[in-house]
Amino acid sequence: SRRTDTVIHRRVGTNTTAARTESARRDENVLTEETNGRKCLHTLLVERQEQAERSVLISCQSGTSEKKLFKFLSKHGDVEKYFFYESYGMNAVVEFASRDGVASLLETATIPAVNHESLVPFKSRLLSLRNLSSVDANPPSGLQFQPQSTVPTNELIQRLSQEESIDQQIISLTEQYQITDENSRLRFLVCSLLKDVAAAYFPECTIKPFGSSVNGFGKLGCDLDMFLDLDSISGWNVKMPKSGLFTEYQMKRASSERAVTQSVLSVIGECLDHFGPGCVGVQKILNARCPLLRFVHQPSGFQCDLTANNRVAMKSTELLYLYGELDPRVRRLVFTVRCWARAHGITSSIPGAWISNFSLTVMVLFFLQKRNPPIIPTLDQLRDLAGPADKSVIEGNDCTFVSDFTKIQLRRNTEALEHLLYEFFEFYATFPFSRMSVDIRKGKEQNKPEVAPLHIQNPFETALNVSKNVNATQLERFVALCQESSWLLQQNETNTPKGGGAGKVHTPWGLSTLLLPSQVAGIKSRKRRKREPASERIKSLLDSLKNPSPKKSS
Ligand code: GTP
Ligand code: MG
Repeated sequence: SRRTDTVIHRRVGTNTTAARTESARRDENVLTEETNGRKCLHTLLVERQEQAERSVLISCQSGTSEKKLFKFLSKHGDVEKYFFYESYGMNAVVEFASRDGVASLLETATIPAVNHESLVPFKSRLLSLRNLSSVDANPPSGLQFQPQSTVPTNELIQRLSQEESIDQQIISLTEQYQITDENSRLRFLVCSLLKDVAAAYFPECTIKPFGSSVNGFGKLGCDLDMFLDLDSISGWNVKMPKSGLFTEYQMKRASSERAVTQSVLSVIGECLDHFGPGCVGVQKILNARCPLLRFVHQPSGFQCDLTANNRVAMKSTELLYLYGELDPRVRRLVFTVRCWARAHGITSSIPGAWISNFSLTVMVLFFLQKRNPPIIPTLDQLRDLAGPADKSVIEGNDCTFVSDFTKIQLRRNTEALEHLLYEFFEFYATFPFSRMSVDIRKGKEQNKPEVAPLHIQNPFETALNVSKNVNATQLERFVALCQESSWLLQQNETNTPKGGGAGKVHTPWGLSTLLLPSQVAGIKSRKRRKREPASERIKSLLDSLKNPSPKKSS
């Protein structure tokens, strides 16, 4: 807040002083940039949740006229924002200026009569609009559908090849992949719709998104991780009064917090399965380390994971968000590395022995902490900057770190993205994985406490390894691909933009080259390579590039 004050003060000052120095203007820009733009995650969540509460999701007949729809909706209240997207037909997200608009709209909505079937009479904010007077014969041409998924890799490679520098390619990739404002609104709306169902049991509950939907590293089409928050009811973190009223007599008891979570999720799962509009394929995965419900929310197309009592994951979401906001290079590098990893099958949408996106993100953060000077601070440094309000201990784990961005002093590091990407590959191509573990709390590699091939310390539950699932083969593939990519980035061939001209196909170059199928066929055993000197390694890599042999089936 001290910095905010300075900004306001300067602004007043500049209004009254006609001439202001160049340095003062620069200073002001820096300060406003730091205080504007950046919102703490909590503020952002509250804002988005509130918008979602005033919104409805309407499935429309294709060809519905935008003008007529708007006119129809406006009869119920002021419409603040609306947009369209395609998923099993045309859909509209409509945000009213107040909840009265929603109430008025719902009052006029009828539950349809269906032949040969009966319906559960549950009135939700998921609506379908039929026969809005005459539907336009020719669909209005101006109607824009907001994309809800990323472009295919081939198309991305083409688009990136048109850029003029690798830095620009990295920025462009991030812009094309990241969650849009509309997609984010849709995610919060789905949480809000699901909350209405869960509220049948727990009227004061909220459902909050976490993970990549909100941590700044999500790409269009990523899954929707949610967290059923009952803390406002359970009074978690609230001091027990010495005297007064307790809701003792109506409380059920369970043997552990885990058992409570399991039974809560079990009934919500039943409820979503039977009454949840649009929820299909509900699976209860209650015996996992973190019990969850998995289902598809059909009208939005989101693959959903709903957990409860998952406060540590919420904290790691906050931490990732904070790191992403500190320097634009953080998110750009993470997007690029995640995209590269996906293109080579290092990560997968199916759970298994693969490296997860979360692990990969932590690896990028660690790398950025290891730059000289460091681009981002260590978690211990962030903890030392924390104020009393930031204190957080969850199940005995210290999750404290500073939430006020303005307290964080960054070191001056001006390395270009292209250079950082190359250095990232170099760093992990030669990282001593067999002995050392990745630790973003200390920002320094630590001796490995266990034998897992890849050890990445969980930042908050420090006894856990977030990449425990990764097997030696997958780690070897990752390392081999890092070697290959760092080598590719050193070649003039890779680094020269290729022409294409208007309308022509562009030859892949730069980052696009790194996204093409790997030339390291089958990726040879690392043991053999380890005994060879570096020059030999590069030679064999060169040979494999010259004579690509067919990929081994795995
Ligand atoms: P996507 O692949 O885009 O979905 O990335 P994500 O970050 O959302 O990952 P995922 O859906 O697998 O997990 C959601 C969140 O749960 C992550 O952002 C983390 O906060 C947390 N999480 C995931 N995996 C682990 C893990 O192995 N350990 C811990 N402590 N937290 C995890
Ligand atoms: Mg996720």
